[in-house]
Formats: sequence, C-alpha cells, structure tokens
Amino acid sequence: MTHPTSRVRLAGAGDALREQRVAQQRRLHRHRAVNMATLAAAFSLFALYIAWLEVYGAGTVRSDELPMAVAIARGPEQADGVDRAGLVKRGEYLARAGNCMTCHTSDKTRPFAGGVAMGTPFGTIYTPNITPDPDTGIGQWSDAEFLRAMHEGIGKTGERLYPAFPYPSYTKVTERDVFAIRAYLNTIVPVHNTPPANELRFPFNQRWLMLFWNLFNFDEGRFVPDPKQSAEWNRGAYLVDGLAHCGECHTPRNFIQGLASRARFSGAVQAGWHAFNITPDKVSGIGNWNTADVVAYLSNGVAPGRAYAAGPMAKIIEDSTQYLSGEDLRSIAVYLRALPPVRGAEKQPRDTLGTPATAVTALRGAVLSGANGVNGAQLFIANCASCHRWTGEGVGASAPGAYPSLIHNSVTGAADPANLVMVILHGVSRKTQQAEVWMPSFGNQLTDDQIVALSNYVTAQFGYPRSSVSATQVAQLRKQPQ
Ligand code: HEC
Ligand code: HEC
Ligand code: HEC
Repeated sequence: MTHPTSRVRLAGAGDALREQRVAQQRRLHRHRAVNMATLAAAFSLFALYIAWLEVYGAGTVRSDELPMAVAIARGPEQADGVDRAGLVKRGEYLARAGNCMTCHTSDKTRPFAGGVAMGTPFGTIYTPNITPDPDTGIGQWSDAEFLRAMHEGIGKTGERLYPAFPYPSYTKVTERDVFAIRAYLNTIVPVHNTPPANELRFPFNQRWLMLFWNLFNFDEGRFVPDPKQSAEWNRGAYLVDGLAHCGECHTPRNFIQGLASRARFSGAVQAGWHAFNITPDKVSGIGNWNTADVVAYLSNGVAPGRAYAAGPMAKIIEDSTQYLSGEDLRSIAVYLRALPPVRGAEKQPRDTLGTPATAVTALRGAVLSGANGVNGAQLFIANCASCHRWTGEGVGASAPGAYPSLIHNSVTGAADPANLVMVILHGVSRKTQQAEVWMPSFGNQLTDDQIVALSNYVTAQFGYPRSSVSATQVAQLRKQPQ
C-alpha cells in the first residue's frame, strides 16, 4: 500500500514530468519556428545574392596571377626572388602605397603596433598590432595566413575580419606584391603591445555576420588588366582600386556600409569630412584639374589655386602618396581622369567660387551675423585675417607652406560646409618632404555659435554662397572622433 503523501508526491512527480514534456514540446516547437525563420532568412539572402550577381556579377573575373606585367605598380626598384634587399625595399614602397602606417600606428615611436581607434557606425574598432612580435603582433602568422587576410579578410584562426580593414580593395593586389609587403613587415622592430578590445554593439560584435556582408559587398579576386587600356591606365587602376583604396573614402556606401557599385568616387563622408567627388565631372568633380594638379596634390597636398589637403586626406598624403613615384602618381591621375563622370547638385565647380572682401564687407558683416548677434566678418578679422588677410586672398599665393587664398578654394566652395567647419575646429597639419604646413585649431577658442557665424561669413564671401551651417551641425561635427 502506498502512503498518501507518497501518492501525492508521485502525482506531483507525474505532473512535473508532464509539464516537462509540454515544455519540451513547446521548446521544440519554438526551436522549429526559429529554424524555419533562420532558413527563410538565409534563403531570402541567398535569393537576393543571386539577384545581385545577375545585375553586378557578370564580368567579374578571378585570376590569381597577373597576366600583364604592366599593371604592377613600379617602386623605386624592381625585385626578383633572389634580391632580398630589393624585395624589402619594394615591400616598403607598397606598404606606403597601401597606407598601412596611418591605420596601424597610434604612437609614431612604435610604428605598426596598432591601437588606433576607428569609429564606425557600429562602434569602435581598435587596429591590431602588425609588427613581427610573436605574442601580440603577427610574428607567428605564416605567409599564407597573411595572404588570406589581405585577399579574403580572414584572420589567423579563420575568424572574419571587419571591412574597416580595407580587404575589399586589397583583394585586388597581386600575390607577389602582398609577399613583398610581408617581407618588409618582417623587418620592422617587433613591439609588444596588445591594443584595447573592440567596442562593437550586438549584433555587430558577431564576426560570422561578415559572411553575409561579404556576400553583398565583397568581390574576392585579383586585379585584371584591361588590354584595351594603356599601361598607365592599368597601373593607375591597380593602385587606386587596390592598394591605395581611394574608393574606401570617396565612394558612397550603401545602407549596410558596402561601397556602392554605382556612382563610384562621387564623394562620401568620412569621420565628419566630405571626401569630395573626384570623378572627372567638370562641375561636381575634378574635371578641370590637369594631370599636374593631381600629381602636385598627391605629392604635397596643394593643387595650386584649387585645393589644399586637410583632415584624413592630409594623412593619406603625409603617410602614403607623397612617397609614390612620379610615374605612379601620373598613372593615378590618368585613371581618375578616365572614370565615368558623376554630376551632383552643384551649379559651378567648387574651386571657381568667391570674391575678395572689400572694406564694406566688414561693415556689412552685421547683416551676415549668425545666431546671438555674433558677427562673422569681425570674427574672421580677429581670428583668420592674420594669415589669410582680411580680403581672404592669403599670403604667398598657393605655394606649399603659404597661407592659402580662401577664394577659389575647394573647401570654401563646396556645397557641404562640413570641411570648412572641420578645418576651423581642428586646423591643418601636414608634413611632406616639400613643406610643413600648420594652421591652428580653433575648436577650444570658438563656441558653436561663433563657428556658425564665421563659417557662414566665409562661405557667403569667399565660397559657395548658398551654403549654411547650423549650431546643431557644428555640435555634431565637434563630436566626430578624429
Ligand atoms: C583604413 C584602415 C586600415 C588600413 C589602411 C590598413 N589596415 Fe590592417 N586592419 C585594420 C583594421 C581595423 C583591422 C582589424 C579588423 C578586425 O578586427 O576585424 C586590420 C587588420 C589587419 C590584419 C589582421 C591582423 C590580426 O591580428 O587579425 C592584418 C594582417 C593587416 N591589417 C595588415 C595590413 C596591411 C599589410 C596594411 C597595408 C597594406 C593594412 N593592414 C592597412 C585597418 C587598416
Ligand atoms: C581616409 C579617407 C580618404 C582616402 C583613403 C582618400 N581620400 Fe582623397 N580626400 C579625402 C577627404 C576627406 C578629402 C577632402 C580634404 C580637404 O577638405 O582638405 C579628400 C580630397 C581629395 C582630393 C581633392 C578634391 C578637392 O576638390 O579638393 C583629391 C584629388 C583626392 N582626395 C584624391 C584621392 C586619391 C587619388 C586617393 C587614393 C590615393 C584618395 N583621395 C584617398 C579622404 C580620403
Ligand atoms: C597661423 C596662420 C593661420 C590662421 C590664423 C588661420 N589659418 Fe587657415 N590655413 C593656414 C594654413 C597654413 C593652411 C594650409 C595651407 C595648405 O594646406 O597648404 C590653412 C588652410 C585653410 C583652409 C583650407 C583647408 C583645406 O583643406 O583646403 C581654410 C578653409 C582655412 N584655412 C580657413 C581658416 C579660417 C576660417 C581661419 C580663422 C578661424 C583660419 N583659416 C585661420 C593658416 C592659418
């Protein structure tokens, strides 16, 4: 006979079992629903991918070695397999062309030791140490692993790398050139340094998700020269679309941060700065620049009477393009000038706007004053005229190292006033073999309202007259990590 309490207990145990079974079934059901949803999502993504391939995929050819020697960037020296020193030297040249330095160096005394904080819409990524340190750098990576990272965006243990590392461009670089870069990196002083961990929000901290990103935005494969084009064009294409990754900043991005395959090089925003339209459109792009302008701009940051490089572009020139040979720079210019032109909303080229200020301009300043009665003209005379003159014409014409004219200047003449605000906030600092250029930053001296008044005065007088900036925009630009 069973004791009543034990019966109760048994009944209780039975209930628990039943409940467990029901819960199990529910879980199974939920699991199946989740599985179905995942499958459906994966299928839709796959279908989208197929559709995408239909539209853009045609003509994508993969090739692992370069059939045409002409497309290879020429360094100061050509290296063959035996010439070790030559190989390292060429690797150094190519590492400069790829600008590995800017992104992987947070402390100039420890080059390539990583730790640069890169702001992305999804959080902050810290660049890794790529010195040959065996514990914290890439000292233990095989050449094949290095090649896979550059060509496929896959890390040492098979993890997917984020495209903040421009592997979607580096995939175009020949195996030979990647190995030369590796040979050079092997000669760098190893630095023991572990950069901070990434601060990415869920789900962007899930590296495997890059698999989907890659499906839509990544075309793995080496550069294929176009035999119909000149050797110069091919070399330019190899550099611009590959190592020099110019499109990573100058090409607009789609909603998942992939580079839009249409409107290439028609301009995009990078860390608050507008990386201008550099297609050969005569109004919105750089169609009026000649080859010498492009070469001068990339070698010292000044296209006389047109443009001066600040912000991220100044870094590119300082760490990368100033070291490229004249032949490579000319090839870049040839390729840029042959791109399909893209027209924006502008009515006049940004480097043709503005007139010098006259004595009455300062008096008229009251009319141009911005918020809270701050007078832009007076602010200009107090803060900027010592170098750019009160007329805005500058001192020393546009030689590198001069105080440039703000008239016929691509920053004041741009429809988007962001770069002007950024120049006022952060100043200009650019060091090349030809000149060291420095403009102070006014971010700590001037309030947002003062910058509004100043910037609106500068664009109205010296640049794009319809452009205007608000205090909210200035506050947002101030917050952009540089
Ligand atoms: C625009 C910035 C940028 C440039 C330019 C750049 N990198 Fe990186 N690189 C990154 C970031 C960010 C990561 C980390 C990606 C991640 O964590 O998924 C990275 C990762 C790597 C890795 C993987 C290291 C590891 O520990 O996983 C290697 C190797 C590498 N870069 C080599 C290079 C070389 C060589 C160059 C020059 C040809 C270069 N990078 C240029 C941003 C850059
Ligand atoms: C890290 C982002 C970045 C990369 C990479 C980059 N640029 Fe730029 N570029 C900019 C920004 C930002 C500006 C605007 C600079 C300024 O306002 O002074 C600019 C300006 C320019 C201009 C001047 C346009 C004008 O009208 O003033 C040219 C030409 C140019 N870039 C060419 C290139 C080429 C060629 C490459 C590749 C070798 C390249 N850029 C790579 C961000 C970038
Ligand atoms: C101490 C001298 C000095 C002062 C003061 C100064 N600038 Fe400059 N400015 C420079 C120099 C130097 C450059 C960079 C020239 C070059 O790139 O070759 C420059 C560049 C610029 C550019 C072009 C940047 C580009 O990317 O094309 C603008 C716009 C500009 N200044 C606006 C101003 C404004 C507005 C003020 C006042 C708030 C000001 N500057 C104050 C020296 C000065």
